[in-house]
Amino acid sequence: MVFLTGIRIAGTGRYVPPLTVDNNAFAAFLDTSDEWIRSRTGIVTRHISDGEPSWYMGLQAARQALEAAGISGQQLGLIIDTTVTPDYVTPATACVIQRELGAVNAMAFDVNSACTGFVCGVDMAARYLATDPELSYVLVVSNENLSRITDFSDRSSCILFGDGAGACVLEKKQGLYSAYMMADGTGVTSLYANANRRLSLFSKGEHAVPEETDPQGDFLRQEGRAVYRFATEAMPRAVQQVLDKAGMTAAEIDLLIPHQANLRIIETAAKKLQFPMERIMVDLDKYGNTSSASIPIALDEAVRSGRLNRGDRVCLVGFGAGLTMGAVLFEY
Ligand code: UT7
Repeated sequence: MVFLTGIRIAGTGRYVPPLTVDNNAFAAFLDTSDEWIRSRTGIVTRHISDGEPSWYMGLQAARQALEAAGISGQQLGLIIDTTVTPDYVTPATACVIQRELGAVNAMAFDVNSACTGFVCGVDMAARYLATDPELSYVLVVSNENLSRITDFSDRSSCILFGDGAGACVLEKKQGLYSAYMMADGTGVTSLYANANRRLSLFSKGEHAVPEETDPQGDFLRQEGRAVYRFATEAMPRAVQQVLDKAGMTAAEIDLLIPHQANLRIIETAAKKLQFPMERIMVDLDKYGNTSSASIPIALDEAVRSGRLNRGDRVCLVGFGAGLTMGAVLFEY
């Protein structure tokens, strides 16, 4: 869908915990190696929470984004937080951040669309901005504390993930905007983490439904190969969809910022799209996979390092648990 009203990123921010863990640290207690992790994923190191809650990481990124936008918390009309690792089941993480920012004029809620979360949040912000004349600024903030749900005895998954947060302040601007979102629930068990499933004091479990996921524990579980196959199909498909909707070609994208899961996934998708790696933002070597935070962290890096400049056409593309995929295309 191409809206007449587009979006403008007024400011971006990011926070990663100071504690870093390199590949060799995993080789010290698992049957793995720096060479295997680098060659199969592209990841070299990642930042891990040393006690920072998810909301705290989001707040630091949000503060930076507000500062870069030159606005105060009171000017926000909406806060959308995306996370699969909230500190509370309820209230929404966005409400904690709203309190801390003194964003007294903002509605606040969370979105859980896994690694597609930030793209979903941006698209929701665009739609709110397009339909509410009184709304000036929306904060989209993504914070993940994946180390809390990582099984550090599972070498095929624990080496992938990192913690961190990214944020952006969005406002209205006439111009290009194209979005595509998709979910495929047949892939629910390919990538999941169980929620609390306690029975009440009154329940005997007589109406229990057979578990479709492993009922043991609440760690993140994934079928790596299945997710890999989905990702290498999802990424080019979502990008092509936003291009088709906008009547554009891949050559017209100045910078592609994909979810940072695995370098091989990004390279395969780039090949399918015939898109040069030089115009793709990659920082997973430093951060690993930070789920919904990965795209806004990369976006902030692109802005602050001068890789993304005003007027550039940028495409954000995510994929992940659900299974879900999504892309947005707009002018920075
Ligand atoms: O945000 C989305 C989240 N998830 C993803 O993006 C994950 C997508 N999937 C992937 O990135 C890849 O599938 C992985 C990186 C998870 C695995 O790479 P792979 O090339 O698909 O490896 P594989 O699962 O086919 O395993 C190949 C071998 C196996 O050994 P055998 O059976 O061939 O003897 C694994 O046991 O590699 C072994 N292996 C490891 N070896 C050393 C798996 N993990 C490790 C490890 N170190 N950390």
